[in-house]
Amino acid sequence: MTAYPLDGLPHHVTIYEVGPRDGLQNESAIVPVEVKAEFIDRLADAGHKVIEATSFVHPKWVPQLADAEDLLTRLHRKPGVRYPVLVPNERGLDRALALEVDEIAVFASATETFAAKNLNRSLESQFEMFEPVVARALDNDVRVRAYVSMVFGDPWEGPTPIDQVVRVGTRLLELGCHELSLGDTIGVGTPGHVKALIDAFGDPSRLAVHFHDTYGQALGNTLAALRAGVTVVDASTGGIGGCPYAESATGNLATEDLVWMLHGLGIQTGLDLDKLVATSGWLAERLGRPSPSRVVQALTKKD
Ligand code: HMG
Ligand code: MG
Repeated sequence: MTAYPLDGLPHHVTIYEVGPRDGLQNESAIVPVEVKAEFIDRLADAGHKVIEATSFVHPKWVPQLADAEDLLTRLHRKPGVRYPVLVPNERGLDRALALEVDEIAVFASATETFAAKNLNRSLESQFEMFEPVVARALDNDVRVRAYVSMVFGDPWEGPTPIDQVVRVGTRLLELGCHELSLGDTIGVGTPGHVKALIDAFGDPSRLAVHFHDTYGQALGNTLAALRAGVTVVDASTGGIGGCPYAESATGNLATEDLVWMLHGLGIQTGLDLDKLVATSGWLAERLGRPSPSRVVQALTKKD
């Protein structure tokens, strides 16, 4: 592909792969643990340097990821690849530490209603849950990423005020999280809104973006985020995904769609698109339905 760069964009983007966690967490039929392990190994082989592997949440809340311990012991950890896991509370941290996990992600809500639905906590009391988790993780040399969800709007409260997102996100960064991922859980954001939110944080250097593609805005929003100084973008191979506690959340931005755009812009990702597409085809057969990614569909069309 001949690259046609645009001014004001980074030379390299880190793609934070969330397929095995955000992608699979919403699947109602339990995916065998061997399939999950092979999925992750294939993603590493395609060049991913950071793959969110699973969640140490309550197994009743997310039954699909109840095999987190089993999965982690099956991984063929590739040197130089990070395998973070989601952890909501101290019980989750204990489980992760028992397996010598070296990077976790806590996940907060920007809105009251989603904090209750996703974490069984209020907007304020979610911090009481995260504070000891982050402190103990850092004491154990475990890096901590933070998410803040519903950053543009939520299904129950409507648009989320920008200053509310900045307040929640800044508190998470101040706890010592190395990165804050801005989650458009239900995909309602648009590019100008993305720029306004990133600018409101002041410094984009510790921000990442996490777009669900429900309204088809994820690529446009990503371009706006890159122009605003963000260089870490979350995506899921094959575009699978959603959140079991927000029905209107559909799949994440597909890694292949993102890679097509970034490579077209001459931005390095370190990823092998053909291997990603092959992995999505392989996974689609196991999930029993085609990948929603436009790039996967285009590159696998038989005509
Ligand atoms: P709770 O019911 O309030 O938990 O749930 P609790 O603290 O009251 O504990 C109740 C029982 O659960 C206790 O057992 C605990 O030990 C046990 P008992 O003493 O009664 O026998 N327990 C656990 N067991 C295993 N692992 C744990 C754990 N924690 C408690 N970690 C809790 C609170 C946070 C646990 C629950 O709400 C939960 O698991 N929520 C997770 C929801 C979730 O995973 N959602 C999807 C991920 S978020 C997302 O997708 C958005 C994102 O992609 C960004 C975006 O798109 O915006 C990140
Ligand atoms: Mg998500």
